Amino acid sequence: MPEYPEAPFDDALKAIKSLLPENLQKPQVGIVCGSGLGGIVECIRNVVLVPYSKVPGFSESSVPGHKSTLAFGFMGHNGTDVPVVAMLGRFHPYEGHHMRTVVYPIRVLAKLGIKDLIVTNAAGGLNPKLAVGTIVVVHDHLGLPNMTGMNPLLGPLTSPTYQRFIPLSDAYSPSLRRLAFLAAHHLSLEPTALAEGTYAWVSGPTYETPAEGRFLRLAGADVVGMSTVPEVLAAREAGLNVMALSLVTNAVVIPDGYRSIQEEVLAELAGKRVELPVPDVVSHEEVLEIGKAKGEVMMKLVEWVVGSIPAN
Ligand code: 6GU
Repeated sequence: MPEYPEAPFDDALKAIKSLLPENLQKPQVGIVCGSGLGGIVECIRNVVLVPYSKVPGFSESSVPGHKSTLAFGFMGHNGTDVPVVAMLGRFHPYEGHHMRTVVYPIRVLAKLGIKDLIVTNAAGGLNPKLAVGTIVVVHDHLGLPNMTGMNPLLGPLTSPTYQRFIPLSDAYSPSLRRLAFLAAHHLSLEPTALAEGTYAWVSGPTYETPAEGRFLRLAGADVVGMSTVPEVLAAREAGLNVMALSLVTNAVVIPDGYRSIQEEVLAELAGKRVELPVPDVVSHEEVLEIGKAKGEVMMKLVEWVVGSIPAN
C-alpha cells in the first residue's frame, strides 16, 4: 500500500476517468454504503462499476457484506437525476488498514469533484429510546481514537488549499440533515423511524463490554460504531457537505442494568428465584440481517435526499 506523500491521486483519477463515459465524469454526491447497506446501488441508474482493484491506492475491503467497488451513475426520486458515486465497501482501521488508506477514497472522490458526502453505517444503540431499526441522523460525534493520537488527519496536508486545523462544530450539515427529516415525511415514515443523535467512533473489532457501553452512554453518545468518523474528517478537510446516517442494528446498553451473579446466588440460597436480565451477545450476522431488513428504508431516504440537494 503506498503511503502519503506517495498517495497516487493523479493515477487514481486517471484510472477512474479512463473507465467512465463522458457524462459520468463529475459526480456531485458521494455515498458510502455501510454493512449490509450496499443495496443503495439498486437506486443508481446507468450504473458503471469501477472495482477498487483498478484504482491505484485503493485497497480491498475484507469485511463480509462489503463489496469493493465504486458505482457511478444517477440517482434521485421523481424525475430528479443527480450524478453520484457510491462506495460499495469501505476500509476500517480494524482490518489493519492504515488511517491514510481508510480516508484515501474520500480524498479521491473530493478530487473528482463531489460536493456532498452521505455516509451510512450500521451501529449499536446506546440510547435506550432508540429501537432496533431506527435510523439516526448524526448531528455530532465522539471520536475516541481522535482523542488518543489516532486522528486520521495526522500527517502532511494532501492539498495545499486544505486547512491545517479543521473545525468540527459544524461537521454535519444542518441543511442535509433537514432534507433527511423532510424525506422521512415525504416517504410517509413513522416519526419514530428517524431520530437525531451523537455517534461514538471506536476502533473495534471487538464490540463493547457492558461497562464500555455505559461509559459511552454517560459521555453522551446515542449510537456506537467502527467507521464513519474518519470519512467525515477527510470530507470536512476537503470542504464537502456531510451527512451521516446510522442504522441501529442492535442494543448495546440494556435499560435494566446488568446481571448480578451475586444477587442470583444469594437469592437462590435464600430459597428465592430471581430473573435478572441476560444481555444479548451481538453478532455481525445480526448486524447484516437488520441491515438487509431495513436497508430499503435507508435506500429510499438517501435517494430522496440526493434528489433534493440543490445543484452546485
Ligand atoms: Cl454494538 N458496537 C460497535 N462498536 N459497532 C457496531 C455495533 C456495536 N453494532 C453494529 N456496529
